[in-house]
Amino acid sequence: MKIINIVGARPNFMKIAPLMEAYRSRPEITPILVHTGQHYDEEMSDLFFRQLGIPRPDLNLEVGSSSHGRQTAEIMKRFEPVVIEEEPDLVVVVGDVNSTIACGLVAVKLGVKLAHVEAGLRSFDRTMPEEINRVLSDAVSDLLFCTEQSGVRNLLNEGVGEEKIHLVGNVMIDTLLKHRERAEGSGVLEELGLSPDGYAVLTLHRPANVDDPEVFSGIVAALEEIQKDLPVIFPVHPRTRDRVAEVLTPRRLSKLPGLRPIEPVGYLDFLKLMAESRLVLTDSGGIQEETTILGVPCLTIRENTERPVTCEVGTNRLAGVRTETILAAYRDISSGEGGGGEIPPLWDGRAAERIVDILLRGRH
Ligand code: UD1
Ligand code: UDP
Repeated sequence: MKIINIVGARPNFMKIAPLMEAYRSRPEITPILVHTGQHYDEEMSDLFFRQLGIPRPDLNLEVGSSSHGRQTAEIMKRFEPVVIEEEPDLVVVVGDVNSTIACGLVAVKLGVKLAHVEAGLRSFDRTMPEEINRVLSDAVSDLLFCTEQSGVRNLLNEGVGEEKIHLVGNVMIDTLLKHRERAEGSGVLEELGLSPDGYAVLTLHRPANVDDPEVFSGIVAALEEIQKDLPVIFPVHPRTRDRVAEVLTPRRLSKLPGLRPIEPVGYLDFLKLMAESRLVLTDSGGIQEETTILGVPCLTIRENTERPVTCEVGTNRLAGVRTETILAAYRDISSGEGGGGEIPPLWDGRAAERIVDILLRGRH
């Protein structure tokens, strides 16, 4: 069984790592790893391959950055001959980035079966580029692997056949559980002069938050207050870099001693930073899930989430994107409100094994 596996952007690497590992003990499977090159900076790509022990990609399509249409089209153009040449039995895509839908479309149009890992998640907000990628990828997939029950429900509501849907758990959590102990050894707290429980971690990269100057300024106004209480460590995503430079000028930053923009950090350091923090502020998808497992309060700077289980049983809370709503949520958390701390069903470190079992059972 020849399987082409697709990665492109940072969160894809944590999701593919346990699958590549699970294939290793199944000689019936010949995996091929294709990197689209959507993310390419050392600290957005290669670093994760080394830290997570992901094999070197068999091929890098090197598409780089551009507009949505151009990037998606370029990935399709470069991936199509690969599928024609390799004649795989299956293509596996993960997550909800442009690489996911681009490669998924190429596969199905060539009559190759498609599996989507992390299927069914819905924010019901079609202004989010990821929502379009999620809906379309699921619509053309033959096998849909869900992380949470809401995903199953959404797919059934959209008319997807029950036989295609499998609730398997969360591959991103497979990776977290595998590397948690190793991450404890990270020296990042010492490097940044932080003490456990004495700081917050912040990430921001949703276009709706960082590309809109008004929204971004409102978020920064909330951070101005929060940094008075505790240092806010802010690994800056490349999308956010220019906006940060524009808004957080050296002069303004000098008045915000607690707000500390840094380069994006590797997986192990980031895991350690989250695990030891008092709270995490983020608009990331995956970080809402990781904080749920770590039991760290998460303020999600968004109006909605496609990962509702993290709010229902986990430590996640939707804080909105306005200064007042973010500060209100922050005050609640600071006064000890918001419990959570339960682990969603099947987030046990064995999702990839379940997926591989199902792939082999089906023998596509
Ligand atoms: C992409 C995904 C998003 C995901 C995020 C994870 C889409 C539509 N978006 O968003 O769902 O949450 O990755 O991190 O697929 N850049 C660099 N170096 C890099 C990569 C990007 O400098 O290695 C800069 C470029 O200026 C680029 C911008 O970041 O234009 C945005 O990159 P892109 O991959 O288009 O979208 P992300 O915002 O990273
Ligand atoms: N992450 C990391 N270093 C950072 C920020 C995030 O290793 O500086 C990890 C994080 O732990 C999670 C993944 O990157 O595993 C989330 O990716 P991102 O937020 O870019 O994408 P999203 O999940 O929003 O699609």
